[in-house]
Amino acid sequence: MASEKTLRQLADENDLTLGASITADAFRKYPDDPDVAQTLTREFNAVTTGNALKMGPLRPDRNTYDFEDADAIVNLGVANDLLVRGHTLVWHNQTPGWFYPWDYTDDQLRTFLRDHIHTVAGRYREKVDVWDVVNEAVADDGTMRETAWYDAMGEEYIDLAFQWANEVAPEADLFYNDYGIDEINEKADGVYALLERLIDRGVPIDGVGLQMHAFRAQEYVDPEALGENIRRFKDLGLDVHVTEMDVAYDRENVPENHLEHQAQYYRDILEACLDNGCDTLVTWGVHDTASWLRNYDQTITDDPLLFDEDFDPKPAYFAIKDLLESRV
Ligand code: G3I
Repeated sequence: MASEKTLRQLADENDLTLGASITADAFRKYPDDPDVAQTLTREFNAVTTGNALKMGPLRPDRNTYDFEDADAIVNLGVANDLLVRGHTLVWHNQTPGWFYPWDYTDDQLRTFLRDHIHTVAGRYREKVDVWDVVNEAVADDGTMRETAWYDAMGEEYIDLAFQWANEVAPEADLFYNDYGIDEINEKADGVYALLERLIDRGVPIDGVGLQMHAFRAQEYVDPEALGENIRRFKDLGLDVHVTEMDVAYDRENVPENHLEHQAQYYRDILEACLDNGCDTLVTWGVHDTASWLRNYDQTITDDPLLFDEDFDPKPAYFAIKDLLESRV
């Protein structure tokens, strides 16, 4: 029989940080529809700041910050005793419209990034527990991605970003976060080598985030391969978190009863995570309506999360719950 406990209670009992990202739109701008906040705070013990702390939404112009959305999410988390994960201080994507046309010098960009990190991580030093400091800095072939940050500062921009974050938020855990590194492959090797260099240079990094977006879940990560990868990163002395999980299928190859397949997939990944010393799993949204996949790629399914459009729990919810219950 299904447990009467909430997922949050079971996560707490398993020392699991179980989070979801939310966007400010989803819960603050539609006050008649408070279910995102209700479901989040009842069923999860952590929240990630969706889009609100990315440079694009946060920086309407070069000298201004708009913290309204970010404050709303962070304060919701703090008020409900959720662990708060800030996402993300440095990324090449979702930058403000003025950013790429800006004719900066390398020094200006460095100063800009330092001020950005000091301001943002400093503002939330008492509230954000974990930062995705640098997001997606490695290309799919494992080489360093040629971003504006890399062009201006070389690989040192990563060292600096972690140092600047550590200066103003010394209590926060500081993470490198990326996609497509959930099992050992060319890109994961590149990230591994990068993290090894950072550690050798004394950079204050605490962990690595595996995003874990599964677009074609039948062909995606084998739990054994995930476990091997987690252990490899942990052997570097890093914590490993699953930071943006969702589970989708190629519309031309959707398994019969795909919600059951999805449930088993979530369960297997969480089990591999826990068995290999990864104590954090975050889903990229609370309910399917708010999934980024609704606007991303029409060739894959767009019901990748634990709750459906009506905030009813899906088979994946019960599968995770069952797993956690069995481990209490
Ligand atoms: O807010 C504007 C709106 O004003 C405008 O009318 C509309 C027109 O396109 O765009 C809206 O912005 C969109 C924004 O999401 C908010 O919905 C952007 O176009 C869209 O590009 C943006 O997509 C986000 C994406 O990152 C950007 O790459 C997704 O919501 C977000 O879920 C996704 O999250 C990333 C993680 O940060 C990093 N890992 C991968 C993950 C999925 O791509």
